[in-house]
Amino acid sequence: MDFGFSEEQLMIQDVARRIAQEKIAPTAAHFDQTGEFPSENIRILGENGLMGIEVPAEYGGAGMDPISYVLAMIEIAEADCAHSTIVSVNNSLFCNGILKFGREDQKQKYVRAIAEGTAVGAFALTEPQSGSDATAMRCRAVKQADGSFVITGKKSWITSGPVADYIVLFAMSEPDKGAKGITAFMIDTRKPGFHRGKTEPKMGIRASATCEIEFADYLAPAEDVLGKEGEGFKVAMSVLDAGRIGIASQAVGLGKAAYKAALSYVQERKSFGQPIGSFQMIQAKIADMKCRLDAAEILTLRAAWAKQESEKTGGRFSTEAAVAKLTASEAAMFITHAALQIHGGMGYSKEMPIERYFRDAKITEIYEGTSEIQRLVIARNETGLR
Ligand code: CAA
Repeated sequence: MDFGFSEEQLMIQDVARRIAQEKIAPTAAHFDQTGEFPSENIRILGENGLMGIEVPAEYGGAGMDPISYVLAMIEIAEADCAHSTIVSVNNSLFCNGILKFGREDQKQKYVRAIAEGTAVGAFALTEPQSGSDATAMRCRAVKQADGSFVITGKKSWITSGPVADYIVLFAMSEPDKGAKGITAFMIDTRKPGFHRGKTEPKMGIRASATCEIEFADYLAPAEDVLGKEGEGFKVAMSVLDAGRIGIASQAVGLGKAAYKAALSYVQERKSFGQPIGSFQMIQAKIADMKCRLDAAEILTLRAAWAKQESEKTGGRFSTEAAVAKLTASEAAMFITHAALQIHGGMGYSKEMPIERYFRDAKITEIYEGTSEIQRLVIARNETGLR
């Protein structure tokens, strides 16, 4: 593993940092309060290649590597976690899946608009009764004589659902085959039979809109199948491996924001006649925060490196992605919790961003596979047992 970043990698990190600091950080509290979708910021991120960081230039993206994606995501998440959720879904769950499993015409049709920031993508796997147990989905895709599919059912917790133009959907096409009966589809939300349901009133990442969606006899022609029929579960799992690197990066960025705030607060804030950072109980917190943050960042870069290697070898990077996501999300939770405690009453006040960091951190332990699912993936891969 080489830790020396290339000029191109540092350049995209710089672009992300500039937009994050100039456009996202100053508006983050507003979008958190109102829950509005930050369309203008998303457009700017898209214009600068940040909605399709790993998307080749021929499909409208920045044509960079997985390390660049991590570096850019950390910058965006440090400014605001909710923005980085939207960026992550567009990059890893939407573009990445189509690039890996889509046909040339699908790449041209769906990836370009998302990578350029003129459209928004979403990923629909979860249902009201099926989260971690993804193969228990009830959404049905019934094949017709002409090869098309009629899709019926509900999906829930769809990130960017209220504004998405296109969605990668997973539906059961042959229910008696379990995981091997799931097919992935490209959905155009302007077509008849697609409906948006209630928007989730969330604890954190409030600017990233989330809702239920429903399909009522939505007609998907055969050409809208993504990958092969019956191989949708593999598409979902493989795409989630990449997605988990995005969430790990997000957790690192958020952890950095909370850590930096805590570090400057313990140097300035005085108690009992000295800066609180000189007290051993605070010092222990700072040391623990620093260790977890650095471990999370290095493991996330390792996962990105493993993804890059897998692109050459065709192997999987599921363990590295799960290790990174688990470590980084638990680090973000620990660090934001400690930062809030260090800030005392000020941390609890909405006048500072610390309470937002704390609320935002929790989701990183839940979506794209809970911490329990990451442990399951790691242990199954390590032991070979189920
Ligand atoms: N890559 C490719 N294929 C994979 C794979 C991977 N990473 N993981 C599993 N598969 C394949 C297996 O090889 C197997 O195929 P074969 O039978 O041909 O060998 C098939 O998929 C079934 O695998 P499992 O038997 O392991 O499946 P399982 O039912 O035991 O489930 C699980 C495994 C890990 C629990 C999985 O269901 C899982 O990851 N659940 C969590 C779901 C999740 O992360 N949801 C997040 C929702 S999306 C979201 O949050 C997005 C957002 O909006 C932000």
